[in-house]
Amino acid sequence: MNSELEKVVNEIVEQFKVEKEFLCKATQSFVDSMDTGLKHDKSSRDFMPMIPAYVTSIPNGKETGLFLAADLGGTNFRVCSIKLNGDHTFAMEQSKAEIPRDLMKNSTADELFSYLAKKVKAFLCEYHSDVEDEEKLKLGFTFSFPVNQTAINRGTLMRWTKGFDLPDCVDKDVVELLQSNLDKLETNVHVAALANDTVGTLLARAYANNPEETKSNTVIGCIFGTGTNGAYFESLENIPKLDLSTVPKDAAGMVINTEWGSFDNLLQVLPTSVYDEILDSETSNKGFHLFEKRISGMFLGELLRVILIDLFERGLIFQDLYKSRGGSLPHRLSEPWQLSSEVLSYLQIDDSTDLKMSGLIMENVLRLPTNSEERLVIQKITQAVASRAAHLSAIPLAAIVQRVAPTYKDDENDFEVGCDGSVVEFYPGFQANIKEALQLIDPLKGSKKKIHLRIAKDGSGVGAALCAATT
Ligand code: GLC
Repeated sequence: MNSELEKVVNEIVEQFKVEKEFLCKATQSFVDSMDTGLKHDKSSRDFMPMIPAYVTSIPNGKETGLFLAADLGGTNFRVCSIKLNGDHTFAMEQSKAEIPRDLMKNSTADELFSYLAKKVKAFLCEYHSDVEDEEKLKLGFTFSFPVNQTAINRGTLMRWTKGFDLPDCVDKDVVELLQSNLDKLETNVHVAALANDTVGTLLARAYANNPEETKSNTVIGCIFGTGTNGAYFESLENIPKLDLSTVPKDAAGMVINTEWGSFDNLLQVLPTSVYDEILDSETSNKGFHLFEKRISGMFLGELLRVILIDLFERGLIFQDLYKSRGGSLPHRLSEPWQLSSEVLSYLQIDDSTDLKMSGLIMENVLRLPTNSEERLVIQKITQAVASRAAHLSAIPLAAIVQRVAPTYKDDENDFEVGCDGSVVEFYPGFQANIKEALQLIDPLKGSKKKIHLRIAKDGSGVGAALCAATT
């Protein structure tokens, strides 16, 4: 690699390194931010929303019944029916549709929700045409955006994340929007519960987990996919902002949707590079969810792209290509959001001679011819961006485990974290890097207990059904 290029790439890689001291400081800052969010009723950019989910107990695996679940969280809308068997197992039917891009932006709440209602109706016709008319099926609605929730089946959208932007939907009750559109189509469905995907993941993993076998208690449900976020069970006395008259008398705690994507929006502790700033400026929720923008699948590819463009503008890569095209770069490289984290996952582990595999991928996906030096740069940057993401992901896990650990002091079990999402499930080395950072932070100092990451498949579907089952 030419020496100037090598120097610059090494500097960037260095900038993306995360040290132990920083991780420990950020974990403490996360714990403090949790407390601030649990105190303040009004949401603010300054702290995590810490949204009460109105779920006051965690499943034990004995729940039974047939429920529907609908899941809007990112690029897809999923409808499922779930039969809980009451023995930690379930049976599920499901259908999935990609959300048309023109319904994510420049459209209206009604158009989006009427599309969703039609998909629910189509699912019922295909799988449950046998359900009797008088039985209203209960539906759990997983809606994975920040919602100001005021009851198990009520909540208004605070703001969009992950590329959605339908301004007229903000402040509207999303349960009402779905229910009214389902009613218009005369479907026999009652939207009984509203849940964030992380709440669903927590409940789904707790249902599937049999602590006698796994010797562990499920304490966090989280997503590392298009976005990132987590939920956990908090004691009522630690949620000063909650109006206790809205909570059943015998409840001891409530599930909290942290919306940790918004951890440290003020950037008091998080590492920030000029590339993070450029990326934020391209998003429709600028200044918000800055933690998520350093971690989740929607942003990893864009960070890589922004860095490559910088190296190009500094005259360090793609110069011959630029000239041979008469003064332009392929539009898939020059336009934002064209690189998915799935592509990065192949670049990350390419060990072919001269990184020829990466070459083919860049040609196919971005129509971008590369030389071997450029491919090496791409791989190094990819690895740096992804390992920073995984290391940062350990912060909320360590903070929450540390916070809930005293509740389990009379119990020998380990802690387990139910995770879902394409990045944690499929990105090579992501889980290993989270674990490495967890060890550095060591949130359970002096204890023999371990923290296990367990993939909670279909968390949002089963979890939403479990929420509906509590109503
Ligand atoms: C975004 C949303 C959050 C969701 C997460 C994972 O951070 O704001 O509600 O849980 O993505 O899908």
